Parts: sequence; C-alpha cells; structure tokens
Amino acid sequence: HKEKMPSSIFKDNILKGKVALITGGGTGINFAITRQLGLHGCKVVIIGRRKHKLDEAVQKLTADGVDSFAIPGDVRNIESIKAFVNGTVDHFGQIDILVNGAAGNFLCCAEDLTPSGFKTVIDIDLNGTFLTSLTCFPHLKKSKGVIINLSATLHMGATDFQVHASAAKAGIDAITRNLALEWGAAYGIRCLSIAPGPIGGTVGMQKLAPKGTQNALANFIPLRRMGTVDDIGYTVVFLVSEAASYITGTSIVVDGGHILMRPAPPRSYVKAVTKKHKLKAKL
Ligand code: HXC
Repeated sequence: HKEKMPSSIFKDNILKGKVALITGGGTGINFAITRQLGLHGCKVVIIGRRKHKLDEAVQKLTADGVDSFAIPGDVRNIESIKAFVNGTVDHFGQIDILVNGAAGNFLCCAEDLTPSGFKTVIDIDLNGTFLTSLTCFPHLKKSKGVIINLSATLHMGATDFQVHASAAKAGIDAITRNLALEWGAAYGIRCLSIAPGPIGGTVGMQKLAPKGTQNALANFIPLRRMGTVDDIGYTVVFLVSEAASYITGTSIVVDGGHILMRPAPPRSYVKAVTKKHKLKAKL
C-alpha cells in the first residue's frame, strides 16, 4: 500500500469487505478507479475485451497487494454480461459496488457518422450501462450497493463532433437519476454519475484532443492543469464510502472548472478599468 500513502487522505481499510465490479477496468481512468478501490481494501473484478490488457492489469494490482481477478467480456452482449456478473459472484460471493466504465468514442462530424458508428457508441456506453446495472441488480439489492456511472461533460451544453457520445452520456445521466429514484426508495441502492473533464494520459484525450493541442488546454481550465486518473479514483473512493451515504442521483463534475470557462477580456484589462476610488469609498 506504500504507493498510495503520500496522496490518499482516506484510511487504507475503509472499503474492507466490499466487492467491486468494474467494466472497462483494465485501462485508463477505469484502471485507476479499480486500483484506488483495491488500495482501500475492496476486492475488485475487472471486465474488458482484450485478454492481454486484463492480464497486465491484474499483474499490477497483485503487485499492489490488491485481491483482484479479471473476466473477459463485452457489455454489448447480454450473455457476456450475465457470464461476468455470475463469475464475480461465484468467486467473491457478492457485489457491493458496480462501476459502469466501459466506453467507446471517436471524433466524427455528425453528417459523417454511419448508423453503425452511432449505434456502436450507444450500445457500449448507454445500453451497456443499463444492462450491466440490471444484471447486477439482485446482488446490489442484497448488499444495498452503489452504482457509479462514468459520464462526461460533453452534453452539458454541447460539444463539436461528439453527437454520438453526448447522446450516450446524457442518457447515462438519466439512468443515474431514475435508478437513484426507483432503487433508492425501494432497495436503498445509491446511483451516481461522475463527469471527468480532460484527464491526462488517457485514450479518450488522445482521441479527442489530438497531439499538440493538449498543452494549450490547461489555459481553458480554471485550475490550470489537466486532471489525473487518480483525481477520478479518489472521487470514486469517496462516493462509495459511508461519508457519501446521503449522496445519490446526481452527476459529480471533476474537471477543474473546465465547463465554467467562457471567452472573457483579460483580467489586466478589467483591473485597469475598474473604478477603484468608488470601491474604496464604500469600504
Ligand atoms: C467514424 C467510426 C470511427 C471513426 C469507428 N467508427 N471509428 N466512424 N470515425 N474514427 C464506426 C465504424 O466505421 C463502424 O461503423 C462502427 O463505428 C463500429 O466500428 P468498429 O471499429 O467495428 O467497432 P469496434 O471494433 O467494436 O470498436 C468500438 C469503438 C472503438 C468504439 C469504435 O473506438 C473502441 O473499441 N473504443 C474503446 C476505447 C475507447 O474509445 N476509449 C475512449 C473512451 S473516451 P460502419 O458503418 O463502418 O460499420 C470516452 C470519454 C468521452 O468515452 C468524454 C471525454 C471528455
């Protein structure tokens, strides 16, 4: 647990006895989420399509002392979902936390999207999120568990060349609210979305912010840096912990304030034209 120590503010064992299933958990943001859950005492099961990526991930988790294993699967296929949910319960006996992380994306002008291109992203992100939640439901009901859906900020406003992913993520936020309402009232299950902003070193950023444009991006973020994968990992640790037991049905934006940015005159200009004498008189 050494590597976590310098930066995690949470106790090592706050998730002890919990079991998490993370779709897409082998790489990127989802791997960081998986690792942070594991470093805080949770047993983790990762799902992904590529066996070599899963093997690599389990190796790293094992080196960190995390009790983990992987099941190959694809959230576009209901039989595959049933198999990995059953596989998780066969191995660890329960599911307390479901992270719907599996997603696919690419830049594409709306008029150039093929029906299959649009459908592929909806199938992975939106349908995958619902069908995996549905399949995990009996187990989450037993554990009064938590669902964390990986959303985005794309659809808060609108984003160029992202009609497919924006539609999917808007739908995911609707699922978050509706499941929080229905399954919260009846079964005590919480459901939350996380909307990451630009996160450095991820496949998503490689695809959406081509080389050479990433450094300039920090100037459009109030906190003046790209996010890190652990920014998202720690957010998930908090949201699934008891400290967040009254938070449900909402989307948590983790973006350094990125969505707040609008074009504005330079700060120095505004300082220069501010009527200082009047302000002073008031004080
Ligand atoms: C236009 C494209 C395309 C592209 C694929 N398609 N890439 N269309 N531009 N660049 C179309 C194909 O033409 C095809 O339609 C259909 O989509 C399916 O493509 P396949 O390659 O057959 O699908 P598949 O191999 O299953 O791959 C799925 C994928 C792929 C989504 C296209 O990119 C993938 O597996 N991605 C997973 C990893 C990933 O993307 N991670 C980043 C997530 S970022 P036709 O008509 O030709 O059959 C993210 C964050 C969002 O989600 C928010 C960030 C701020």
